[in-house]
Amino acid sequence: MNYNDLHSEIQSLMSDERNFLANASNQSALIFERMERLNWVGFYMMNKGELVLGPFQGKVACIRIAFSRGVCGTAASKRKTFVVDNVHEFPRHIACDCASESEIVIPLIKNGVFYGVLDIDSPHKSRFSDDDRTGLEKAAEIILSMSDMDLVGKYYCI
Ligand code: SME
Repeated sequence: MNYNDLHSEIQSLMSDERNFLANASNQSALIFERMERLNWVGFYMMNKGELVLGPFQGKVACIRIAFSRGVCGTAASKRKTFVVDNVHEFPRHIACDCASESEIVIPLIKNGVFYGVLDIDSPHKSRFSDDDRTGLEKAAEIILSMSDMDLVGKYYCI
């Protein structure tokens, strides 16, 4: 995966737009289209003490995730990226699409405020390498820096 190209595409998509919902919708679509061997890409956003489904690509997914549950809830509570090579071995994993075998979840944190997570699933075990982690963390940084996150806080009642 050429992450320099992906990052440039994301930056150009967001260059004239600072609305987070619009940018997150396009970012999930772009990652889903450009990266191989994925079955779900999307956002879960902080809402009243739990995570609520945001813009995504893939099959319909669970709507709310408690902080203690799932790879998403664990990444949210620890505020760090989680790469899970085999979701069946992750005790608190929530299976939205039974095709998922591995997963990466990146927390969205800006100026110390936690807004949500970027969640990406693959139907292949051990799909996500260190390069993917670095490249996707950078993709998360780009949307955080190119969107008005203070408005997101109001909308999602963080
Ligand atoms: N597998 C996630 C739930 C969300 S779906 O993958 C879209 C989890 O364990 O948190």
